[in-house]
Amino acid sequence: MKYLVTGGAGYVGSVVAQHLLEAGHEVTVLDNLSTGFSEGVPAGAAFVEGDIRDAAKWLDSSYEAVLHFAAFSQVGESVVKPEKYWDNNVGGTMALLAAMREAGVRKLVFSSTAATYGEPEQVPIVETAPTQPTNPYGATKLAVDHMITGEAAAHGLGAVSLRYFNVAGAYGAQGERHDPESHLIPLVLQVAQGRREAISVFGDDYPTPDGTCVRDYIHVADLADAHLLALTAAQPGEHLICNLGNGEGFSVREVIETVRQVTGHPIPEVVAPRRGGDPAVLVASAAAAREKLGWNPTRADLAGIVADAWEFAQTISAAREQ
Ligand SMILES: NC(=O)c1ccc[n+]([C@@H]2O[C@H](COP(=O)([O-])OP(=O)(O)OC[C@H]3O[C@@H](n4cnc5c(N)ncnc54)[C@H](O)[C@@H]3O)[C@@H](O)[C@H]2O)c1
Repeated sequence: MKYLVTGGAGYVGSVVAQHLLEAGHEVTVLDNLSTGFSEGVPAGAAFVEGDIRDAAKWLDSSYEAVLHFAAFSQVGESVVKPEKYWDNNVGGTMALLAAMREAGVRKLVFSSTAATYGEPEQVPIVETAPTQPTNPYGATKLAVDHMITGEAAAHGLGAVSLRYFNVAGAYGAQGERHDPESHLIPLVLQVAQGRREAISVFGDDYPTPDGTCVRDYIHVADLADAHLLALTAAQPGEHLICNLGNGEGFSVREVIETVRQVTGHPIPEVVAPRRGGDPAVLVASAAAAREKLGWNPTRADLAGIVADAWEFAQTISAAREQ
C-alpha cells in the first residue's frame, strides 16, 4: 500500500514512517521542515518538502491513506501566538481534508492529544471525558477532531484520531530532537549530557505522592504500532477516537530518578513555581485502543523508554560534534 505521512520529518511521524516501510509499504513524507529535520526522514521514504496547505499538488488516488502528524505543538508558544496554531493546525488540516476529498483518498489517521481534555475530572481519562482544553494548542487539536467527525459523517471518510499522552523513547535512527525542547525526558537527558546545568521541577506541592506532576509515558514504537492498527480499523463514514497511553503514571521526580539510574549522572534539580494549566495527574485509559484497535503496548517499562532516548541523544550529539 502507499501512504502519505505529513510531518514525517518530525519525531513521531518519522518513527511511524519507518514502521510503515518495515511492514513493506510505500511511503511519501510531506513536511515543510518548520520544526522537522530532513535527516529525520527514514531511508526508503520519498520526501516532498512542502506544506500541507498545498497537499493537493501531490495527493492522488494512488494513496491508500494519509497519516497526519504535521502540526505545531509547543503549548507555551500557542498561548502567546494562538493565531499561528489556528492557522497551521486547523487551516492546514482543512486544506489537507479538501485535497483528500478531491483526490479520493478515503482514510485518515490523525495525531490528536491528551491536551484536548484539559484538567481531567477523573483519571484514568476515558474518551468520553469532557474536552476542555486549557491552551490554544489543545483547542486547535480538538477543533480538528470535530472537523474530522464532520468529514466522516458528510463525505464517508474513514478516520481514527489517536490522542497521545506523553510520547518518549526512540526507534533506531529516529528520535526526539525538538528545538526548543519542552518534553521532560529529553530535557533531563540534556542535563546528563552537560548541555543544561539542572532540571527545573515546576511545582512540588501537587496532590501527588511526591508532590510533582504525574504523566503517562508511552514508547514511540508502541505508538507506531497503534497507527498501523488504526489503518486497518478505520471504517468509511466513521471517526474513531482512542487514547494512547500505558494507563500508568510516573511523577517528574520518578522520571528524573530513572534518568539518574540509566545515565549514572547525578542530575541536579531546581524547584520552580507551578506552570499555569499543568494538571496534577494525566493518565490515559487505554481500554478503547486495546479493544477497538487490538493494540497491546509492549514497551511500557520507564527505564527502557529512557534508555532508548538516551542512546538516541548520544548518537545525535556525536553526529553534531563531527
Ligand atoms: N510528541 C508528543 O509527545 C505528542 C503528544 C501529543 C500529540 N502530539 C502530536 O503528534 C504530532 C507529531 O508530534 P512531534 O512531537 O513528532 O512533532 P514534531 O514537531 O517533531 O513534528 C511535526 C512535523 O510537522 C512538520 N510540519 C508542521 N507544520 C507543517 C505544515 N504546515 N506542512 C508540512 N509540515 C509541517 C514539521 O516540520 C515537523 O517535521 C503533532 O501533531 C503533535 O501535535 C505529539
